[in-house]
Amino acid sequence: MNNTKVYLNGEFIPLAEARISVMDRGFLFGDSIYEVIPAYGGRLFRLQHHLHRLENSLHAIHMKNPLSHEEWENLLATLVLQYAGEDQSVYLQVSRGVAPDRDHTIPEGLTPTLFALTTPFPSIDPQCYKKGIAAITLDDIRWRFCNIKATTLLPNVMLRQEAKERGAMEAILIRDGLAMEGAASNLFIVDDGQIITPPKGEHLLPGVTRDLVLELAAEKDIPYCEASITREQLDSADEVWLTSSTREIMPVTHLDDRPINNGKPGELWQKMFNHFQAYKEELR
Ligand code: PDD
Repeated sequence: MNNTKVYLNGEFIPLAEARISVMDRGFLFGDSIYEVIPAYGGRLFRLQHHLHRLENSLHAIHMKNPLSHEEWENLLATLVLQYAGEDQSVYLQVSRGVAPDRDHTIPEGLTPTLFALTTPFPSIDPQCYKKGIAAITLDDIRWRFCNIKATTLLPNVMLRQEAKERGAMEAILIRDGLAMEGAASNLFIVDDGQIITPPKGEHLLPGVTRDLVLELAAEKDIPYCEASITREQLDSADEVWLTSSTREIMPVTHLDDRPINNGKPGELWQKMFNHFQAYKEELR
């Protein structure tokens, strides 16, 4: 990390020298949005999907995209060249910018703050795939627009921390009796040979990994549907998976301290995991 260069407002500079103002609205209000994009073998994975979601998040908070897709592509391609050929995870953030006063209302004519950083892809403990992971269910205390990838993540931080303190890797969030997603991942269950994931809407993030899993299911003739998952369905599921750009597809084998099915990663998970890895390899 020491020699890492980051992108900040038009420049590539050493991480240690990157500075933003304390008056940045991202810092003061969490008035900003972000993306996390994997780069396998140094190649940005599902980049157009991430840029499309970035566009939607900006639109939802009434911001214009400060860069064209081509400009984003060039910027990110330059960033990942630092670790050419290696697996990386790219973080990018766009904040509303620096305002003269701390005022909730948005002043006219602000220049957005643009930041991007690449780090080696976070290693996944092979035990997670061998044994599966533990998750707990928690009340979804987040706001209503979880489809926006906002940096205002205090509820997610608290939920994930509670999971960690209770010996679990993720919290699965329950709103009005329905399981929505994880604190930082999307949710899938397997019920009677069919993959089920909640439909997109305001209560969950439209995950790029989620969409790829559905795409692969369609391509490989694995039955799937997008439907609400009740608390009871979650509890009696044959398999539970969580997906994200940094954890790919994780099998959950323990929920609230009870084993799911036989307490081992399921057959359908293994199948989907293999399809996912093969898809990644094709793009290298
Ligand atoms: N989080 N749901 C939430 C609430 C998330 O924060 C994430 C990802 C996902 C999965 O989306 P995707 O497949 O596009 O990564 C679902 C990222 C990785 C993060 O905040 O670090």
